[in-house]
Amino acid sequence: MPLRPAIAGDADLLWRVLLEAYNWNGEQRFHVEELVADPYAARYLTDWPREGDFGVVAETDTGEPIGAAWARNLSEDRPGYGFVAPDVPELTLGVLPGHRGRGHGRALMEELIRTAAERPTPVARLSLSVEDGNPAVRLYTSLGFTRVGRNGDSDTMVLTLGANGPLGT
Ligand SMILES: CC(C)(COP(=O)(O)OP(=O)(O)OC[C@H]1O[C@@H](n2cnc3c(N)ncnc32)[C@H](O)[C@@H]1OP(=O)(O)O)[C@@H](O)C(=O)NCCC(=O)NCCS
Repeated sequence: MPLRPAIAGDADLLWRVLLEAYNWNGEQRFHVEELVADPYAARYLTDWPREGDFGVVAETDTGEPIGAAWARNLSEDRPGYGFVAPDVPELTLGVLPGHRGRGHGRALMEELIRTAAERPTPVARLSLSVEDGNPAVRLYTSLGFTRVGRNGDSDTMVLTLGANGPLGT
């Protein structure tokens, strides 16, 4: 399953993936226009790629993008749902419907974690937010993310790179 770094031209794909993350339970709770117009949601992607952003795209063997994971540093005054600290990038993950359950999500996460560890300024921790009931929590836990807090109906989880994850030191 080919993976490649996310680039500026992937912005539309990343918005689609952000929509999947918002609509994780299969209900069309949001439309992409609403996300783009929502200042909170837009924090994850506006001006992609900003300095410090990094991400990974999964493709089919014929080069069709089918999922992505990316991370961005957010600020205390404009935080994400899984905000921990300004130097802890918050990640977003999604695989498009019809391509799930085949290992793409795990492969994207593992590659994003590797990428984080190899940044010019290495990333010490990654954070995320996962809403109650989302089975993605099992993936995160198996990668070494641990729950560090709550925000509304969601857990905030953190991975300390090189410390408690199966990707190790
Ligand atoms: C979460 C998501 C990215 C996982 O991607 P995927 O390609 O389906 O996942 P994988 O096939 O790599 O499976 C990885 C693990 O995810 C877990 N998992 C994720 N979704 C699951 C589901 N609906 N049912 C059961 N297990 C699930 C399993 O524990 C699985 O573990 P395994 O590798 O030991 O089998 C994908 O289901 C998705 O895009 N969901 C909607 C968007 C979303 O929820 N994003 C995350 C927001 S926090």
